[in-house]
Amino acid sequence: MVNDSRISGFYKLPREERIKKVIELTGIDEEEIQPLVDPGAVDLEVLDHMIENVIGSMTLPLGIATNFRINKKDYLIPMAIEEPSVVAAASNAARWARKCGGFTAEDTGPIMIAQIQAIEIAEPQKAKKDILGEKERLISLANEQDPILVRFGGGAKDLRVRIIDTKIGQMVITELIVDTRDAMGANAVNTMAEALAPEIELISGGRVLLRILSNLADLRLVRVKATFDKEMIGGKDAVDVMIAAWAFADADPYRCATHNKGVMNGIDAVVIATGNDFRAVEAGAHSYASVGGYSSLTKYEKDDDGNLVGSIEIPMAVGLVGGATKIHPVARACVKILGVESGLELAHVIASVGLAQNAAAMRALAVEGIQRGHMALHARNVAATAGARGEMIDKVATRLVEEKNIKVERAKEIIEELRS
Ligand code: MEV
Repeated sequence: MVNDSRISGFYKLPREERIKKVIELTGIDEEEIQPLVDPGAVDLEVLDHMIENVIGSMTLPLGIATNFRINKKDYLIPMAIEEPSVVAAASNAARWARKCGGFTAEDTGPIMIAQIQAIEIAEPQKAKKDILGEKERLISLANEQDPILVRFGGGAKDLRVRIIDTKIGQMVITELIVDTRDAMGANAVNTMAEALAPEIELISGGRVLLRILSNLADLRLVRVKATFDKEMIGGKDAVDVMIAAWAFADADPYRCATHNKGVMNGIDAVVIATGNDFRAVEAGAHSYASVGGYSSLTKYEKDDDGNLVGSIEIPMAVGLVGGATKIHPVARACVKILGVESGLELAHVIASVGLAQNAAAMRALAVEGIQRGHMALHARNVAATAGARGEMIDKVATRLVEEKNIKVERAKEIIEELRS
């Protein structure tokens, strides 16, 4: 846990100094952080056992978002992402929220749904009644598959049955509701669904096909709220135009897709850094946004003082045990830097970053025009590509932006000029 995540000028420090600061503030030891700061230190043997046909690894930049305070606790947040502006934007919005007390987060518990599909059922209503009649026995059978999860207070908690109409007739879908505690839970719930399949066939007289979790994890929601200081955003008009930007997204799916993509910029970056399944989180987010018509994952309004109040509600199927989070040394280092103690705490952090990211994007678009921010970062990339290092990067980038000529060739000329 860090005492204070507000680090002024973190971005100006040389990389080595940033690393030192993270070590100093989080207490992570040098050995633990090594695989993160030196991709060459990641043992390929570990990766070779994660997927098939491994020949190497793909390295993404990993930045630290500063200024986050969530449920009164400060965090330095590792974000793995290839897109410029994202880490800076999240840190900025976290600063606006920090002024008003930070983010408050709550959740509905780590609850996943597993589906068991039964077809060729002569009397679906009767099958439904019969399956529900055996509910307690089926839940016990599911829990026998994972005594450790049950010992930690998790396990199957409920069972429901839905009859759905499909193009090839009615199907009976049994859904097992499972508390997966600190695990994302895919393996646990799939194993439970697997174990129930023969029983469902016997009870229903039908044929069971799919047994798999649902990524529409609408029982595993995180809700985060934050007040963004109106002066830091740019005053009353800035707040008003940001609300107008949100209202546009909420009313129009073409805009909303991009708006929600911006939310996911922040979310995916932390999900990836912590070794979680970002496809699962993406699927959950967009399917949840589509329930009742595709709409914004976030909401905005003004408080009595004219500050901007933002909130997000999003499924968040992430964990701390199992999968790459425990195996991948970089993910382990990121979890250590975050200082989260449970899967739910990690989910709170991730959703808070999503809200911050969205607020920052809306301000960039509605208040300052996103192109300017993007151009500045693009210019720094071009300067670095042309060979600029250290302080030279900013000098070259500033010239490129002033000249409105952000090209590697021009950057090389400026570097020559500055050197001579
Ligand atoms: C770019 O990656 C994300 C934005 O397009 C999000 C948005 O439009 O709200 C800036």
